[in-house]
Amino acid sequence: MRVCVIGLGEIGIPTATYISKKEFTVWGYDISSEVISQSKPFSCTNNWNTIPHKKIEVYIICVWTGIHHHKPDISSVYDVAKKIKSTMNKKPLVSIESTVSIGTCRKIYEEIFNQSVDLVNVPHRYWKMNPLKYGVNQRRVIGGINKESLERGLSFYKRLDIPLHSVSTIEISEMSKIAENAYRFLSIAFAEELKMACCEKKIDFNELRSAINTKWNTHILEAREGISGHCLPKDTKYYTSIFTHSEILKTAIVVDNNYSRLFIKKTV
Ligand SMILES: NC(=O)c1ccc[n+]([C@@H]2O[C@H](COP(=O)([O-])OP(=O)(O)OC[C@H]3O[C@@H](n4cnc5c(N)ncnc54)[C@H](O)[C@@H]3O)[C@@H](O)[C@H]2O)c1
Repeated sequence: MRVCVIGLGEIGIPTATYISKKEFTVWGYDISSEVISQSKPFSCTNNWNTIPHKKIEVYIICVWTGIHHHKPDISSVYDVAKKIKSTMNKKPLVSIESTVSIGTCRKIYEEIFNQSVDLVNVPHRYWKMNPLKYGVNQRRVIGGINKESLERGLSFYKRLDIPLHSVSTIEISEMSKIAENAYRFLSIAFAEELKMACCEKKIDFNELRSAINTKWNTHILEAREGISGHCLPKDTKYYTSIFTHSEILKTAIVVDNNYSRLFIKKTV
């Protein structure tokens, strides 16, 4: 089977490498010539037309998504969906693994693909500090645009030995990705809030945390140097930009900003 992985960044390279080790023939595509020039264990190109599209059965989208003017920027996913549509053969399986906002997959399926592909959403939970345990083949959520897509997606990922939790709609998988990171953002922000309160009352935060965490249903997280990385802050902003009434997450963002300022002041 031939697979094309699109977007060869932090997620795309380990994904394509993993699939190529499963003895699938992998083609990688990225718009950046710098990315293409680095050596990889699979063929890659930044010339879309050199990919043997007639033979590609599965496209995996791992391109960048971000924030622009405080709103989700999914433009690169739309861009590659248009490219796939213009050259695809028969009815490929398209898996959107990039983080997208809720409703994106259905919009792309209707407006770009005109329902002519099987489409699934399998967002990543990648953690670069431990890619063996929390990399490409950790348990992930899968949602399909319809029953046939879900079945085809499940069978493809089964061949890759990637354990999946399937959900009944593609919107649930899109939202699960954003909500799981927003939840983590909130939990860390609470630990930061508590640490700032401890500072005010001259209480040892670590000792307080250990004491609280002896309770059977409570787990206060650590408060380190502020919430960094791109996934947690970005996915939380995706959530607040969609659900504009979500005061709890907006407040968590303020708490983290205050904590980070305090932390930087302390380290200086
Ligand atoms: N990095 C992580 O730990 C992580 C974890 C979970 C989810 N994600 C999600 O995975 C997706 C990819 O993240 P990443 O960290 O690999 O990003 P990245 O910035 O490292 O890489 C993205 C790649 O996409 C390429 N690209 C951008 N637009 C393109 C286009 N139109 N056509 C082809 N290639 C294009 C870029 O050149 C780049 O090489 C994002 O949606 C991100 O939110 C990332």
